Amino acid sequence: MLAQHPEYQQKCRDELEEVLKDKEDIDWSDLTKLQYLTMCIKETLRIRPPVPAISRQLDQPLTFKSKTHNVPPTTLAKGSFAGVQIFSLHRNVHVWEEPEVFNPDRFTQDNIKKRSPHAFLPFSAGSRNCIGQNFAMNEMKIAVGQIIRKYELYIDDDTPDTVMETALVLRSTNGIMIKIRKI
Ligand code: HEM
Repeated sequence: MLAQHPEYQQKCRDELEEVLKDKEDIDWSDLTKLQYLTMCIKETLRIRPPVPAISRQLDQPLTFKSKTHNVPPTTLAKGSFAGVQIFSLHRNVHVWEEPEVFNPDRFTQDNIKKRSPHAFLPFSAGSRNCIGQNFAMNEMKIAVGQIIRKYELYIDDDTPDTVMETALVLRSTNGIMIKIRKI
């Protein structure tokens, strides 16, 4: 996503330079300061959620009230399997304005407060959510941060489009092609 959007990539690079100056390593205390990079990673997790769906077996009946007049509520029986389509949630026009557009500003603190905490679920939610989410976020900040400090990521007309498939995880069938050049 940063290769596709050089303007956001540059903003991340500027932030890295401001936070790290000439320091080689990214330390623990730096991670919380990399706010723009965090916003870009979250927006990437929204538009390309690595876990596109999860499922649950209901231990009690679940009733959905309809918003449409005269349509009665629907109840799923105890024991049913319910699929939660994270990919679709993250692209639902009732939840996200222009969901196909990559826009890291969706994740400013102010904008986060305006949404339901369940609008964005890359790590699931509730008692069986991802126990590795903080580790994963920190790992991504360090890996992406260290790469874009030294290299510019870009795509051009020769770069093949990524073809996505939904397996257990969201993955590419043809690799993720990007070009890099040393800064
Ligand atoms: C971007 C990276 C990651 C994403 C998007 C992700 C996403 C998820 C999701 C959506 C679930 C919930 C599955 C469900 O509700 O059925 C989950 C569970 C889990 N994740 Fe992650 N994960 C990531 C990285 C990691 C890492 C780095 C670790 C370990 C260091 C980890 C460990 C786990 C474990 C152990 C569970 C099962 C928790 C349970 O069932 O109680 N994950 N992850």
